[in-house]
Amino acid sequence: MAKTRVGILISGRGSNMASLIKAAEASDYPAEIVTVISNRPAAGGLAVAAKAGIQTVVIDHKDYATRMAFEAKMHQALLDAGVDLICNAGFMRMLTGGFVDRWKNRQLNIHPSLLPSFPGLDTHERALREGVRIHGCTVHFVRLEMDTGPIVAQAAVAVMPGDTPDTLGARVLEAEHRLYPHALRLVASGAVRVSGEDIRFAPPTDTPAALFSPPLRP
Ligand code: GAR
Repeated sequence: MAKTRVGILISGRGSNMASLIKAAEASDYPAEIVTVISNRPAAGGLAVAAKAGIQTVVIDHKDYATRMAFEAKMHQALLDAGVDLICNAGFMRMLTGGFVDRWKNRQLNIHPSLLPSFPGLDTHERALREGVRIHGCTVHFVRLEMDTGPIVAQAAVAVMPGDTPDTLGARVLEAEHRLYPHALRLVASGAVRVSGEDIRFAPPTDTPAALFSPPLRP
C-alpha cells in the first residue's frame, strides 16, 4: 500500500518532528515525511530535517500582510510536495477557518496536556497549579478552535512530588516523542478513522483499564 505523504509544520526546535522522521525511517512505517515547513527562519528543527535529507521550506509569516496570504502560500507548498496529511509539531501560529477546512481530517496536532484540560500555553505550570496527579499529552485532529478536535491518542504522565514545570515538561516531552509516531501510525494505516467528530478504533485487548497516580500498592 502507498505510504501516506506527510508534511510537518514547525516553529521551533522540532523534537517532535525529529521523532516522526525517525519513526518514518522504518520500512514498514505507513507514512513518509516529504516536507518540513517552518514559519520561523531561525527554527532549530530546519537543520535537523535537512540533515535527515528532508525538503525544508521557510514561509515566514512576517513576510505576509494577512494570515490568509501566509496560509495560501503554505497550502501551495503542501500541494507542491504532494502532502496527504499535515502534522503540526510545535507549530505556534493560529490557523484560520479557510486553512483548517481545506485540511479537515487531514491535519494532526500534538499538545502537551490531556485535552480538553489545559488548552493553550504554559500547560505544565497550570497543571501543577491545579494539583492534578495525572498530566500528559494528546494527538488530535485539528479543528478551528485552538487545541480542540477528535482525539486520536493520549499518554498519561504521573505528576511527582517536587515536580517543577521543567521536570514535568521533560517527562511529558518524552511521552510526546513516543505518542506522536504511534498516533501517526494509527491514522496512516487506517486503524483509526474520524467519523464526524468521533474517532473509531479497535482498542488492543491489553490496554490497561486505569492508571493510578500515586500508584496502588497491595
Ligand atoms: C511540544 O511540547 C508541543 O507539544 C508543543 O510545543 C512543543 C514543541 O516542541 N505544542 C504546543 O504547545 C501546541 N499547542 P518541539 O518543537 O521540540 O516539538
